[in-house]
Amino acid sequence: MTRPAAAGYLRRVTVLGIETSCDETAAAVVADGEVRSNVIASQIEVHRRWGGVVPELASRNHLVQLLPVVDEALRQAGVALSGIDGIAVTAGPGLAGALLVGVQAAKGLAWSAGLPLVAVHHLAGHLHAIRLTAEAPAPPFVGLVVSGGHTSLYRVDAPAGRTRYDLLGATLDDAAGEAFDKAAKLLGLPYPGGVEIERIAEGGDPAAHRFPRALAGKGIDFSFSGLKTALRLHVQRAGRPEGRALADLCASYQEAIVDVLAQKAIAACARERIGRLVLCGGVAANRRLRAEATARGREAGIATFVPPPVLCTDNGAMIAAAGTLAFQAGERAGLDLAADPAMRL
Ligand SMILES: Nc1ncnc2c1ncn2[C@@H]1O[C@H](COP(=O)(O)OP(=O)(O)OP(=O)(O)O)[C@@H](O)[C@H]1O
Ligand SMILES: [Mg+2]
Repeated sequence: MTRPAAAGYLRRVTVLGIETSCDETAAAVVADGEVRSNVIASQIEVHRRWGGVVPELASRNHLVQLLPVVDEALRQAGVALSGIDGIAVTAGPGLAGALLVGVQAAKGLAWSAGLPLVAVHHLAGHLHAIRLTAEAPAPPFVGLVVSGGHTSLYRVDAPAGRTRYDLLGATLDDAAGEAFDKAAKLLGLPYPGGVEIERIAEGGDPAAHRFPRALAGKGIDFSFSGLKTALRLHVQRAGRPEGRALADLCASYQEAIVDVLAQKAIAACARERIGRLVLCGGVAANRRLRAEATARGREAGIATFVPPPVLCTDNGAMIAAAGTLAFQAGERAGLDLAADPAMRL
């Protein structure tokens, strides 16, 4: 059973984290705040030919992959289920069928092994991935969650050991990851688009095209749908570019996204008078974003923290990290836990 919580933020508990909210089947063991294993079975190849995630295919693949992934996570960590203190599972938000596979499996494992269970919000997982790194900032901090489905700024506090999330700003339309993925599709590049656009942008000139920066300097909400339209109009006018022209286009498009993300994140820190910024979610794996936010933060006296790329995209370790906090706060989920595709933080 769960050992008593120690003073440290993520101390003295060994948690199995399970994540199946989208197209990654993931399980990890986090012990005393340290990643012992982090196994991810990506479904990218399954979905690539469709240019995006097909929900039903995701659920079916989670069903096939999840138990082997859990076994592998335990094996790599060198523990049996009996050596685990509790199970943390993503209960939402995400694809209903995909979430259901993880939640049902976690309940079955918890019941059969007599272990406590906690439900984790997927974005809490992203926000606490930074806790698994050596230089984790103590709350309060501002967290920019920037992923395939979300672009949101949160103030994260921990009054009396309970984590509190205040939403400061969010996208009014597309998420930044979606803007990358849709652009890639438009340019005939494979899914997931962010990785591909970043790779091609490396050899391009970010100042070659001036893409719109929606809501720049106006509050801390985001909008990316106009950017996507601007790219579509450009491609309609000039055709699909290749070679150097494609690199320039990708670099300029990426720059527009990075510019707005960095600017709003720093503005949120200034508004909250908080000197610690955490970037997280799949788009935080982007090297240009990591560098730009860090540089602008330094100029503004703000320390920027970003987990390694493997902890930015979906993974089980971040769910175990957030689950550890939940266990230490005394939270428990029952065997009536349901997947909640629209779960609120
Ligand atoms: N290096 C990169 N540069 C830019 N974008 C990237 C990079 N790597 C991944 N992404 C983007 O990150 C997104 C995937 O992130 P993540 O796995 O956190 O999303 P998700 O779980 O599907 O969405 P959410 O977390 O909102 O539910 C995709 O949109 C992908 O294009
Ligand atoms: Mg995610």
